Amino acid sequence: MKKIVLAYSGGLDTSCCLKWLQNKGFEVICFSANLGSEFSPADLKKRAHLSGAAKTYVKDLQKEFSDEYVALALKAGAIYEGKYVLSTALGRPLIAKHLVDIARKEKADFVAHGCTGKGNDQVRFEVTTAILAPKIKTIAPLREWELNSREEEIDYARKHKIPIKSTKEKLYSVDKNIWGVSVEGGALEDIGKEPPENSYYFVKPLKKALNQEVYLEIEFKRGLPIKLNGKSLDFLSLISKLNKAGSQCGVGRTDVIEDRVIGIKSREIYEAPAAWILHTAHKELEALTLDRETLFFKEAISFKYAQIIYQGLWFTELKNSLDAFINQTQKVVSGTIGIKLYKGNIVITKRISVNSLYKKELATYGRGDKFDRTLAEGFIKLWAIPFQVKN
Ligand code: ARG
Repeated sequence: MKKIVLAYSGGLDTSCCLKWLQNKGFEVICFSANLGSEFSPADLKKRAHLSGAAKTYVKDLQKEFSDEYVALALKAGAIYEGKYVLSTALGRPLIAKHLVDIARKEKADFVAHGCTGKGNDQVRFEVTTAILAPKIKTIAPLREWELNSREEEIDYARKHKIPIKSTKEKLYSVDKNIWGVSVEGGALEDIGKEPPENSYYFVKPLKKALNQEVYLEIEFKRGLPIKLNGKSLDFLSLISKLNKAGSQCGVGRTDVIEDRVIGIKSREIYEAPAAWILHTAHKELEALTLDRETLFFKEAISFKYAQIIYQGLWFTELKNSLDAFINQTQKVVSGTIGIKLYKGNIVITKRISVNSLYKKELATYGRGDKFDRTLAEGFIKLWAIPFQVKN
């Protein structure tokens, strides 16, 4: 029997994939990566077994995800089209890397995923597999099978006695990890309407958000957060604490029309309180500690880095080269940023850094001004020359 390793989430799509691959004559080995979804390993194994898996691997990759993927995206300031912190996108190369490792270990020539033929995730999984293991072939049941809608998949699941999860699963397609939740499909496809209440996943709708300001202090060292409110925390725990605090205050939800790799525009809702709090604080600290030209240049790098992540090009030379630049810039990005959360807002309240380039004696309009204003006139004359010569 041909062996195939399936990236299995326990959701509707991958559960149907499992059965479909079996019916095509494959011995299916499931691999579930835990990047912060809510299913227990025991539950996943049980579900996979009930759906017919020959063997199931469950790996807790939260730490690897936070330290080797999310941390890089944070330092890079990677936000796609200004609204998406790339939570789903960042997880795909990591999952694909482990999928390939398991395929090698199991001597399987095939891997499979439950992504649709219209999405970005198929691109991310398959490009990563192609780069890391060119000989392994990918099968994408959703691009081949005869099921054409979620309703048909639900019928297929019922017919084959595949356990289906919550009703939410039927309403929307949801992908969750520690860096954020992506919600799409169903009622959200109507872009003329505000997202319905049932599309809220863990961030509180503004009218139900805490009616009180929540103050936080985040200390960064070389571009990464190391303390929350004075207490040392590892990155993963810090993210989880900020997700809790932010979600109570209705922070970190975006409603996005985004440009997919394959060319279509789609609408997605993202909930990512910790990611938005950390990006906001990190950007503020960079504004304080990076000189103007480095800061401006890094804007362009952030833009490109976000595209790289979105487009599935994580394991590339370009990404590694940009990391070298980014890490160099982060050497001075240390200090503390104070923040206040209130009804969806993230407000900066404090900025402290030993590397601060803000000099009050230069900026002040009050007493103690050290800025030599007589230099300004000559400077402005020179500044204008390139635009005057053509007259
Ligand atoms: N549009 C997002 C991306 O391309 C999320 C994709 C997965 N979303 C989902 N709801 N299943 O990264």
